[in-house]
Amino acid sequence: MQLAIEVKHLFFAYEKEYVLEDISATIKDREYIAIIGPNGGGKSTFVKLLLGLLTPTKGTITIYGTPPSKGRELIGYLPQNIHFNLDIPLQAREVILHGRLSAKKRTFDRDDLQMLEHIAQQLHITHLLNKKIGELSGGERQRVLLARALATKPKILILDEPTAAVDFKTQKEIYQLLQELDLTKIVVSHDVNILLQGVDRVFYINRKLYIHNNINLPITPQEGHFCEMEIFEKLGSENGCTH
Ligand SMILES: Nc1ncnc2c1ncn2[C@@H]1O[C@H](COP(=O)(O)OP(=O)(O)OP(=O)(O)O)[C@@H](O)[C@H]1O
Ligand SMILES: [Mg+2]
Repeated sequence: MQLAIEVKHLFFAYEKEYVLEDISATIKDREYIAIIGPNGGGKSTFVKLLLGLLTPTKGTITIYGTPPSKGRELIGYLPQNIHFNLDIPLQAREVILHGRLSAKKRTFDRDDLQMLEHIAQQLHITHLLNKKIGELSGGERQRVLLARALATKPKILILDEPTAAVDFKTQKEIYQLLQELDLTKIVVSHDVNILLQGVDRVFYINRKLYIHNNINLPITPQEGHFCEMEIFEKLGSENGCTH
């Protein structure tokens, strides 16, 4: 079995207090993990540590056997707060293609255009490619940014709240798309409905990590909406957890 991510006794503090404390976990190749937890619980911090954007205070992280500084090339990432100047007159296609550029690679070739076509079909955004990024709706833009995160053909996809500002229908569509993607996936979300969408495990992070393999939701999906707080109370405890 190939390990995508291995985290051992990870501690992290921005200042004096630990934001993350003694976190250990392994994520298998092609596993689909949902990360949930309250505001300020440390979810985005955890993701930034995986990406090597932050350095652990203590502990180790490996990405397919390499440190995050190197493993980062294997990760497609959609940050929580994307600072994007919507006035920039870039078309969606350019935004996606830019995901392929790096210090080493400064021009596009035929492979890039083939990738663009393929991903656009996969994410149902072919009709949006010539539109300006600032003219897209929130949901359309998220799909374009998802395409950009996938543009380098990463082995791991990490999305930090990809559906924060989109309506319920679009949320469902985006999670449906995610299910169809065959790679290691880590999705941070406050949309607890994600729990129903075929994830393998749920990581509840609130300074510490609680891993849940099977989740017994308080309300069945047929009954519709269920409350995030109710789930948090259930998940944020040692009960039924595996570490
Ligand atoms: N750059 C920073 N400097 C200092 N403290 C920070 C910084 N970024 C985050 N924190 C603090 O670290 C804690 C965890 O923040 P983090 O953003 O990881 O939480 P989160 O679980 O992603 O929350 P949310 O659900 O609101 O996105 C919070 O208390 C936050 O105030
Ligand atoms: Mg966050």
